[in-house]
Amino acid sequence: MIYNMEDSHNLTWQSTTVGKQDRRQRNGHESFVLWFTGLSGAGKSTIANLLEQVLFAQGIHTYLLDGDNVRMGLNSDLGFSATERRENIRRVAEVAKLFVDAGVVTLTAFISPYQSDREMARSLFTDTEFVEVYVDCPIEVCATRDPKGLYLRAQSGQIKEFTGVAAPYETPQQPDIVLHTNLQTPLECVQQILGCLVSWGLLSKDNSLANSLEDTCVTREGQR
Ligand code: ADX
Repeated sequence: MIYNMEDSHNLTWQSTTVGKQDRRQRNGHESFVLWFTGLSGAGKSTIANLLEQVLFAQGIHTYLLDGDNVRMGLNSDLGFSATERRENIRRVAEVAKLFVDAGVVTLTAFISPYQSDREMARSLFTDTEFVEVYVDCPIEVCATRDPKGLYLRAQSGQIKEFTGVAAPYETPQQPDIVLHTNLQTPLECVQQILGCLVSWGLLSKDNSLANSLEDTCVTREGQR
């Protein structure tokens, strides 16, 4: 990889006439990112998928960026060293920022194992635009589920630097939402998230699924 960082210094930000607020207004809803983090097999993709389905059915503009898919395209040049994971998360966060600017409710499902990388992602957004969702599940349970057969291969040394086996997962320090997928069903997780989004003013109350749950959410710093 040969990049000349000097080239990016002679640039001027071009403001656009049509802005984020215009797009939000036309869409009739806020735009923000739901950043799912957790071990492989914890349920990030499953929950993000179900949530997107529910939101989409309500006419909300959504897009789901998923680790495996993004790594098969935009990030196909990246492996799993700490440096490459950082670059993976940096690019995904920048793409998510574009989607949020486009007025879209953006869901990202990446292991994103390092606290500093998640903080870097958060720093690209305003306080209300970034919702960190920690998909918590004991590694023994993830390894038993092993939907892609990766834990088995990692344990036998066939996959190097596998998160939780030979590479770290740093537990989120201040996630906005914590899900326990060993105890909750995917639908319960989705309902918990919807309740939080309504109570934080990110989704409207029309969302009938969320109505009964919004009181279960703690106040969030910087919420509207
Ligand atoms: S991250 O750590 O950089 O955030 P990301 O979410 O993009 O990871 O990709 C994780 C996916 O890549 C896993 O779901 C799994 O399918 C696959 N994978 C392949 N090798 C590894 C590895 N060494 N560690 C973790 N996941 C891996």
